[in-house]
Amino acid sequence: MILAAPMNMKGKVAFLAGASGGINLGIAQAFANAGAAVALVSRDPQRIEAAARSITQGGAVAVGLAADVRDPEALRKAYAAATKALGLIDLVVSGAAGNFLAPAAQLSPNGFKTVVDIDLLGTFNVFRIGFEHLRKPGACLIAITAPGAQRPGLFQVHANAAKAGVNMLVQCLAMEWGPAGIRVNAISPGPIEGTEGMARLAAAPERERALKSKLALRRYGQVEDIAQAALYLGSDAARYVTGAILSCDGGMVLGDASGDALTPPRPKAPEGVEPGNMQ
Ligand code: NAP
Ligand code: COA
Repeated sequence: MILAAPMNMKGKVAFLAGASGGINLGIAQAFANAGAAVALVSRDPQRIEAAARSITQGGAVAVGLAADVRDPEALRKAYAAATKALGLIDLVVSGAAGNFLAPAAQLSPNGFKTVVDIDLLGTFNVFRIGFEHLRKPGACLIAITAPGAQRPGLFQVHANAAKAGVNMLVQCLAMEWGPAGIRVNAISPGPIEGTEGMARLAAAPERERALKSKLALRRYGQVEDIAQAALYLGSDAARYVTGAILSCDGGMVLGDASGDALTPPRPKAPEGVEPGNMQ
């Protein structure tokens, strides 16, 4: 018999890196609403404490911990504090990222390295250091990647290269850690309304319009859309899913869908014939 698996996270502990705002805080709120206790991590102590407070004010259990994902020692301390306060970790979300638009010819080696260090090395650190603190079997790791991992784009060599690495990291870890009962997946969000990411990549209204016109669904997504995908991957409903890159992107990874695919182009009228009179 097939039963509908409930998105119930009561008794689970989640550790979310890069969760002081935006998409990752939205995922933390969804996990907390589903009953999980959450440990939130980002660099800025005030921002991360405020984020944790926003969750505890809703009645859930949350702690805010300051750590830079590029700093293994700081992450070790954050995991130790999280497990001491909340217990073994069932769910890890690695979503800390840095991004900006930069033409490759003007990007310094340190600019490239900085983004790779936060997105790719940071995700390795979050998962690798987390490994010691996971409930095994049963833990679920989720990386936040991007469609640019699978499609090249202008002025994004640093971020796209880093996220392509994240996708491969997820698939390699899924193979290595599956036998220990650990699932490793990624969510690939499309452009999400009201986020820092979109403020940095498409602040101008004409750029936003152009981007939407190319998406199959013709609109931005909401933080909630990504939170729903994370709830699914983190729940028993996804218990046989590992190594997946789950696109939740309005069709962005498919490519440029501008134009109206449902209206075929009209044949060209021969010289002297009105288009309306053609048979
Ligand atoms: P955001 O609000 O800027 O979130 C990034 C988070 O990471 C912040 O909490 C930031 O907090 C933290 N952070 C940055 N560097 C860090 C570091 N070195 N160590 C620890 N924490 C760090 O961004 P967002 O737009 O919601 O994006 C969230 C994720 O979704 C990212 O992985 C991004 O690549 C992905 N994504 C976003 C979109 C989009 O439309 N926004 C589309 C595709 C993919 P502190 O400043 O306090 O450290
Ligand atoms: N264009 C080109 N290069 C840039 C840049 C930009 N807009 N912003 C930073 N850099 C370069 C810097 O010039 C520096 O290189 P240099 O030493 O050769 O001059 C390098 O990147 C590191 O900059 P720094 O400011 O020291 O990095 P940081 O570690 O303090 O911050 C960032 C990391 C740059 C990614 C910062 O934007 C950040 O903290 N972002 C987090 C939030 C975010 O990006 N959210 C969106 C997620 S999609």
